[in-house]
Amino acid sequence: MIKLLSLLNELNIKPKTPIGSGMYHTAFPFEKFKDKIIKTGKGDVDISSGGVKKINQKPLNKKMLDIFQRFPKFFAHVYKITDKYAVIQKLDTEAFKSDSFKLARGLIRLVMSEPRFAKNNTLLYPYAINPSLEPEDIDISYFIYFLTFSRNYRLGKKLRKYLPRDIFDKFYDFFKALDQSGVKNYLPRNRADVHENNLGYDKEGNLKFLDI
Ligand SMILES: Nc1ncnc2c1ncn2[C@@H]1O[C@H](COP(=O)(O)OP(=O)(O)O)[C@@H](O)[C@H]1O
Ligand SMILES: [Mg+2]
Repeated sequence: MIKLLSLLNELNIKPKTPIGSGMYHTAFPFEKFKDKIIKTGKGDVDISSGGVKKINQKPLNKKMLDIFQRFPKFFAHVYKITDKYAVIQKLDTEAFKSDSFKLARGLIRLVMSEPRFAKNNTLLYPYAINPSLEPEDIDISYFIYFLTFSRNYRLGKKLRKYLPRDIFDKFYDFFKALDQSGVKNYLPRNRADVHENNLGYDKEGNLKFLDI
C-alpha cells in the first residue's frame, strides 16, 4: 500500500514535459485547453535526494505580462496571472519558424540573383561574400528589423520580389505597426526580442510575440 501510494505520489509530481523553455521561462501544455499554455519561471529539478525537488526557481516576469496586456495586438493573450504561473494563449511557433526559413531562403535568392546589389548593401554584404550561405546562417532578428525600417526601403522593395507575397506582407505589416506603436518604449533596451523562438501565430493567423 505504501509502495503504491509513493508510486502514485511520484507520478503525480513528476514534472510534465515542457512545450518549450528559454533562459527565464518554461511553458507547459494546458491539458484541459489545447489553445492555452502555462508559463512559469524556469527552474531546475533536483532528484539527488530520491524525490523530485524544484530548485533555482526563477520568478515569473510580471513586467512582461503587463506589456502583453497593454498591447494585445502584438502579444499573446493573457488569461490569468498568479504569483507562480500565468495562463497564456498558445501560439503556433512551428509555423512562424517555417515562415522565417522561407524568408531566409528568399534572402539567399536575392543575394544570388543580384550579387551587385547585395555586395553594396551593408546588411547583405556578409551574406553576399559567404560562398556556402544556408538559411541557418541568416539572423532573422537582424534581418526583420532592417526589413521594416524605412531607411532600408530599397532592400524591402527588392526582397518583395523574392519572397512569397503573403509572408512578406504579414511580416512587413506586423513589424511596421510595432515600430510605429510606441511598444518599444516599454521594452528592455527599447527593442523587441525578435527571435525565431519568440513569435508565433494565433488561431486567426495573426503574428504575435510570446516573449519580450
Ligand atoms: N504562448 C506560447 N505559445 C506557444 N509556445 C510558447 C508560448 N510561450 C512560451 N512558449 C514556448 O516556451 C519557450 C520559452 O518561453 P519564453 O517566454 O520565450 O521564455 P524565455 O523568457 O526564457 O525566453 C518559447 O521559446 C516557446 O517555445
Ligand atoms: Mg524567449
